Amino acid sequence: MAQYPPIMKDLPAFLYGGDYNPEQWLHQKEIWKKDMELAQGAGINTLTVGVFSWSALEPREGEYRFEWLDEVMDLLAGHGMKAVLATPSGARPRWMAEKYPEVLRVNGARQRALFGGRHNHCLTSPVYREKVRAINTLLAERYKDHPALGMWHISNEFGGECHCPLCQQAFRSWLKDRYGTIENLNLKWWNSFWSHTYDSFDQIESPSPLGEMGVHGLNLAWKRFTTQQFCDFYAWETEPLKRITPGVPCTANLMQTYEGINYFALGRLLDRSSWDNYPAWTNDRRDADVAARTAFYHDLMRGVCGPKPFMMMESSPTAVNWHAVNRLRTPGLLMLQGLQAVAHGSDSVQYFQFRSGRGGSEKFHGAVVTHAGTDQTRVYREVAQVGRRLQGIAPVLGSAAENKIAVIYDWENRWALRDAQFGINSEEKGYEDAVVAHHVAIAAGGFGVDVIDEACELTGYRIVAGPMTYMLRPGFAEKVDAFVRQGGVYVSTYCSGWVDEEDLTFLGGFPGPLRAVTGVWDEETDALDPTQHNHFTWRGKAYETCDYSAVVHPESAQALAVYENGFYAGAPALTVNAFGQGRCYYIAARTRDDFLRDFYAYIAGQAGVAPLLPGLPFGVSCTQRVGDQGTFLFVMNALPESNAVCLPPCVAVDTGARVEGQYELKPYEVLVLKREGEAR
Ligand code: GLA
Ligand code: ZN
Repeated sequence: MAQYPPIMKDLPAFLYGGDYNPEQWLHQKEIWKKDMELAQGAGINTLTVGVFSWSALEPREGEYRFEWLDEVMDLLAGHGMKAVLATPSGARPRWMAEKYPEVLRVNGARQRALFGGRHNHCLTSPVYREKVRAINTLLAERYKDHPALGMWHISNEFGGECHCPLCQQAFRSWLKDRYGTIENLNLKWWNSFWSHTYDSFDQIESPSPLGEMGVHGLNLAWKRFTTQQFCDFYAWETEPLKRITPGVPCTANLMQTYEGINYFALGRLLDRSSWDNYPAWTNDRRDADVAARTAFYHDLMRGVCGPKPFMMMESSPTAVNWHAVNRLRTPGLLMLQGLQAVAHGSDSVQYFQFRSGRGGSEKFHGAVVTHAGTDQTRVYREVAQVGRRLQGIAPVLGSAAENKIAVIYDWENRWALRDAQFGINSEEKGYEDAVVAHHVAIAAGGFGVDVIDEACELTGYRIVAGPMTYMLRPGFAEKVDAFVRQGGVYVSTYCSGWVDEEDLTFLGGFPGPLRAVTGVWDEETDALDPTQHNHFTWRGKAYETCDYSAVVHPESAQALAVYENGFYAGAPALTVNAFGQGRCYYIAARTRDDFLRDFYAYIAGQAGVAPLLPGLPFGVSCTQRVGDQGTFLFVMNALPESNAVCLPPCVAVDTGARVEGQYELKPYEVLVLKREGEAR
């Protein structure tokens, strides 16, 4: 059992607050005072400041203006609040772009950007790095002893890529380190294809619509390099912070499955994982699906720096301004959104944004305090309710999930799947949807789920699912072998074990190095259009396949179900292989959710993994966190209508009421319960 310390060492509470932009009100500072009162009234204890403040902090090169931030920090401290203090690198001031054009990003077509926007600086530029280092150092020195300093928020939503000459150079030296010789690189990238052989590293250019896009090894290397650049930039930014304020944790706000950065690599550098959660709630029964997908994102974002509690750094208190349809949140939905994060292991609930600005593209984005500037709004009242609720469930703080089932979601694998051309050439071959489908099916059975990547440890789990592990990274197949040998249950699927870490196919039959543990040879893969299906029957029930059907030959495995249609009728659609003390399943086709739900409920039962709560109706989910103060069960209803569940003997953490047996959950209700007696 693990109990983690609070994120900010002198704030033993859920962090509650959000992004605050006092620099937008420098001409109207009386508003700050009012904001502090409004924040306190809503139970807010932290505000994220400084995210886009560079031009207010350094209006001219080397001319620093920290006085206004001093005032804000003092106001926060004076009102018993903490700052999540951001480094300002997410957007640079005008003077810098003008004097040092090298800080401006260059796109794949080799065009340098003009000044404007945000999140668009060069990652290599020595000037940019030097400027960032200077201002971060000054911030750390100035606020190191300030009572309001609680945490560092590094930049904002790292993303994108830069193709400037400095980045090309850095890329080439990264390639030299990785491949050693150009001959080796040519071989690893299969450059004899279409006469793409290089004579020297100096000839290599990053992928470009004007040049090379079809060398998968190059594309993959560029993505790995870009991840490395962000990791390096993060380390660069945090160096003075860690040196000058060693006790203050650092984080960078992530964006669920954002493609451009392998978050498992970046996550290892963070003191806490944090992410920005913007589900497109629908206010109807489809919210059950929205919640189920959001659950996957929470588990993934916890996973990249887990299992310690993570943070929901941003979420909208009501409608955002950038979805296709920006719905308000019906009453109660805000509570569900906030507590769902906590249920999945977050020790914070934070919003974007605290107060709406008057101008700029986000002036109509949801905010705790709207342009009306009052606490007499529906949204403010709901925000205050969530604040009170978080205080009521304080015993949950620092506890963590202890799940027995994990699903693999791997960034490098998805990069390779994006490039691969076969079957259905949809976005990444439907990889994210496939992983989410497995996660959702497991969670629907009432099980807690971790999301890990191929580089993570498998020990400690009873069941690990690896849907579409097309790319097997070094050491992964060996880990699966050892895991199953020691009694674990591994679930593999179609499109697994096709390529190695350089995106070169395995020779000798798929699933390559997983062939022994799966006990099958996967000979060929059929693709079905949306009107085409195959069928199989398993344990007396009929199921439909879609998209992908692999034709496999059981070697040591045993067929559990066979295809019923077409020329491969009779070939196995599902197999199991006894291997050492454990078992490995191979699901040869993409199926509907009904099969995955039945399948995982069955294999969990076989493996002796009990659900946290059995018999969950549609729309209800549950998770568990375990800590010094007890075993906490979260039961969440994502429907705008009531929903009945059957509860074990528990005490409601916030009210102290005993509950057991039949319970009618109200629309969007979330129960936070402490189990009585033996914890599971
Ligand atoms: C992101 C950014 C914020 C803001 C919100 C709007 O998460 O980090 O600065 O733009 O989106 O939803
Ligand atoms: Zn660059």
